[in-house]
Amino acid sequence: MNLRRLRLNSNIRDLIRENYVTKNDLIMPIFIKEELDGKNEIKSMPGIYQFGENAFLDEVAECIDLGIKAVILFGIPKLKDSCGSDALDEEGLIARSVRKIKETFGDKIAVITDLCFCEFTDHGHCGIINPKLKTVDNDATLEISKKQALIHASAGVDMIAPSGMMDGIIKALREVLDNNEFSHIPIMSYSTKFASSFYGPFRDAAESAPSFNEYIPKDRKTYQMDIANSREALLESLIDQEEGADILMVKPALAFLDIVKTIKEKTLRPLCVYNVSGEYSMVKAASLSGWMDYESLMMEILTSFKRAGADMIISYHSKDAAKILN
Ligand code: PBG
Repeated sequence: MNLRRLRLNSNIRDLIRENYVTKNDLIMPIFIKEELDGKNEIKSMPGIYQFGENAFLDEVAECIDLGIKAVILFGIPKLKDSCGSDALDEEGLIARSVRKIKETFGDKIAVITDLCFCEFTDHGHCGIINPKLKTVDNDATLEISKKQALIHASAGVDMIAPSGMMDGIIKALREVLDNNEFSHIPIMSYSTKFASSFYGPFRDAAESAPSFNEYIPKDRKTYQMDIANSREALLESLIDQEEGADILMVKPALAFLDIVKTIKEKTLRPLCVYNVSGEYSMVKAASLSGWMDYESLMMEILTSFKRAGADMIISYHSKDAAKILN
């Protein structure tokens, strides 16, 4: 069988290409830091910045100009305490930021909020600590998550994305949104999220590394999933689909493409992948060292997500990819 006939010229190769990355697929994360003046490059993520409240609108404007469809916001508040009070304040950092984007840009770009507490707590865990159990208290965290969801919704967010891996959170958030006239707000669940080493640089970016002492664990393994488990990975997304998630997610992406493929085959909601900080930093480090070509490596990785079944991609490469696609 001659397979090389169809590879001989680029027009024919284009005709038979099965998967594409387009600008419609891309979501750009934005880190907003209270009291920062201007922007501050994250050491472990060259090319990615924390933005002050006087600077992040420029970043959003750039995303709009490039044709990116959505941003996902992460906040680094000045005040961090045991229950993440800033996230529960209608005048808190994320609520303010959503309102500003919506006032300035209207529907030119979708605003998604990461709904979690690790950036807002002084201990860096994703909810309220139960010292007896030495872990995050599931149901107490559901209660504050509901408040956080209403604050984001009231601020005008287009979609919320709960990322704390609490059991029952999709059902809880769907109910509270529906009961408060926010039934039109979709939920993108970080449905299958692993306890991964690939989040390392994010914790610099969001200043959210989990701390530990005799009452709290040093990692997130009591709520995020074991990277070795694929059956449980499917179950997590099946449950969130059942609870009413509008979009499912696999995170991280690159080392978990088998999981992406399985979940795509076994569920019926759109599927997002999160191409996380450590995946970005590896590619950047290799290309800045001159070991690999940044653009082709990035596009190959993004295309592999589409091939595995992703419908959309949260990636720190989004702006760079959109530039190439333009
Ligand atoms: C919040 C959250 C994290 C990331 C996205 N949302 C941190 C974590 O779970 O530790 C990581 C994203 C990345 O590494 O780029 N829970």
